[in-house]
Amino acid sequence: MADFLPITTTLINNLKVEIREALRDDFEPDSRFDEFYQWHISAGKHMRREYNLANRESFKKHFRQRIKEKENIILGAFHKEKIIGIAQLSFDLDNNKIKHVGSWGVVIHPDFQNKGLGKSFIQTIEKIALNMGIKKLESSVYEPNSPAKHLYIDKLGYIVEGVKKCAAFIDNQYVNEILIAKFLK
Ligand SMILES: CC(C)(COP(=O)(O)OP(=O)(O)OC[C@H]1O[C@@H](n2cnc3c(N)ncnc32)[C@H](O)[C@@H]1OP(=O)(O)O)[C@@H](O)C(=O)NCCC(=O)NCCS
Repeated sequence: MADFLPITTTLINNLKVEIREALRDDFEPDSRFDEFYQWHISAGKHMRREYNLANRESFKKHFRQRIKEKENIILGAFHKEKIIGIAQLSFDLDNNKIKHVGSWGVVIHPDFQNKGLGKSFIQTIEKIALNMGIKKLESSVYEPNSPAKHLYIDKLGYIVEGVKKCAAFIDNQYVNEILIAKFLK
């Protein structure tokens, strides 16, 4: 893992947040995971996965498995020991055809959004990816998710590579998924 981690970032309102690799123990015991999952339910409208109480146990199993996989780095943002955001970098370094490409996703507790954490998270992911020799980072965003589009495209310089039409059904309408990417230098 990158030697520049953990980092402490100061958000708007002077909130201090530590960004570091998330470990399995950060989601133990179950009550801690459940608290982490609970804010995903309110933050997850524009994410592909459906976060609701019925899906909690299956996500718990999936997430605890993912955190151990070598194709992922999962970063956590911690405020007073609580996980208030998560960012995932995925890659496949064993495949020579695609080892130069990584992808990421981010989700932040609603109380901590719009304070600069998303920007810090993605910049940290970019730094880690660059250190690993990854040359291109990809992600995507549903068209109505204006804050995310603003951050990724306007602020962080991601380019639009394409649009998947009617890729999801959110708030009673079909929405497009915008595919974005950035070439790292
Ligand atoms: C999208 C998300 C990751 C962005 O992270 P964040 O910490 O809220 O973003 P930042 O505070 O770093 O904000 C970056 C920019 O977005 C702007 N922004 C934030 N919320 C906004 C809103 N509701 N409307 C318009 N712009 C907004 C900020 O003003 C800032 O731009 P500025 O510096 O020009 O003012 C976060 O809001 C989130 O987790 N959302 C819910 C889950 C989600 O949608 N994940 C992404 C799926 S693709």
